[in-house]
Amino acid sequence: MSNQKTIVSLDIGSSKIRTIVGLVEDKKNLINIIGAGISPSGGIRKGLVTDIDEAISNITTSLEDAERMSGEPIHRVFVGFSGPHVETYNSKGVIAINGSGSEIREEDVDRVLDAAKAVSLPANREILRIIPKSFSIDSQHGIKYPVGMSGIRLEVEAHIIAGHTSAIKNLEKCLYETGVDTEEIVPSSLACSEAVLDKKQKELGVVLIEIASGSTNIAVFEEGTVLYSSVIPIGGEHVTNDLAIGLRCAIDTAEKVKIEYGTCLPKDISDREEIDLSQISKTDAHVVSKKQVATIIEARYHEIFSMVREELMNIGRDGMLPAGAVLCGGSVKIPGVVDLARDSLQLPVQLGFPRDIEGLVDRVDDPSFANAIGLLHFGHRYGTTNNFLDFDFKKIFGSLPKFFKKLIP
Ligand SMILES: Nc1ncnc2c1ncn2[C@@H]1O[C@H](COP(=O)(O)OP(=O)(O)OP(=O)(O)O)[C@@H](O)[C@H]1O
Ligand SMILES: [Mg+2]
Repeated sequence: MSNQKTIVSLDIGSSKIRTIVGLVEDKKNLINIIGAGISPSGGIRKGLVTDIDEAISNITTSLEDAERMSGEPIHRVFVGFSGPHVETYNSKGVIAINGSGSEIREEDVDRVLDAAKAVSLPANREILRIIPKSFSIDSQHGIKYPVGMSGIRLEVEAHIIAGHTSAIKNLEKCLYETGVDTEEIVPSSLACSEAVLDKKQKELGVVLIEIASGSTNIAVFEEGTVLYSSVIPIGGEHVTNDLAIGLRCAIDTAEKVKIEYGTCLPKDISDREEIDLSQISKTDAHVVSKKQVATIIEARYHEIFSMVREELMNIGRDGMLPAGAVLCGGSVKIPGVVDLARDSLQLPVQLGFPRDIEGLVDRVDDPSFANAIGLLHFGHRYGTTNNFLDFDFKKIFGSLPKFFKKLIP
């Protein structure tokens, strides 16, 4: 008997809302894409709901398109969450082990992660996810899965991703109104990493850089797990805004210029090349220099990569990640971005396309679908548990315990 089941992701971005329907099978990584619904994202800005009715209407359109294409009714979705209001913290938890023989049980892992959650967050923040980075038992450090081991003191180093309570509540309200249940709300950087990074890269050390519309999300992996993540409040829409100001044209015209003629490499463009805006715009009719366009674009992307590099410096990983940087998100589709990133970050750089998919691949074979496809992988791999320990203890310890589920607030 087939053990196939349907899984659905809903990536609510600042520029697009993407619903993807996939078929998955137990013990198989491959996801069969059977439907996609993509609608413009009015009512959402930088991950925040700005107009609840408009947001509901656009989410509904995206869901209905995906239902039509897949022939599957959508009841439950894994939802992507990102934007400058997403915040990250590092935390530690310590507990004493007092069970018989001092053997560490699942409940102890529960307790130590609860202790790590007792970090003092600013008001009105909600923990979206707590990721155990490593455990220590007595003086033994670097333990990935402590259950079954013995000791009297269990410590955890954890990474916490939190969002503004009101932003999460408004998102949940929109989803409730569209009639779908939320399986999980998953931070974008974690979802993307599921789609574009492989196990080896995460083991060696890699930084994932998702340059989206309203923000750039980064996640650093080492020894198979998340070392650090953060959100830089600059993305593709800032590039478009710079062009609108620099070229003195409408935002819509600037967006078309960026997508049709944009590049990050002004040195490759001759001074004589020009763009006649009347060819792409109803409102603007002047002629602009292609080199000027590239210079404006390069400056903003360079700023983004410099900020990423600064973050890497802050965590002592500047130039220290053997698997380099992997770029995804809609804004990495601009020509020359890999070269610019390589120069700015001084790391090997590659584009990240969604992996392990089949079916309607041509609809989603694009770095801007990393988040939506990653949500499917995330849902398939972890279900609605909070286990984000990326190593194969499923294989070692058999089926996963449900205890992490309790960690979701
Ligand atoms: N070919 C292209 N060249 C340059 N930029 C592009 C290209 N195609 C799309 N973009 C930019 O990508 C951005 C959208 O990326 P993406 O779809 O990842 O964002 P989003 O998920 O809608 O937003 P967010 O995640 O920030 O809420 C826009 O700023 C758009 O201008
Ligand atoms: Mg996005």
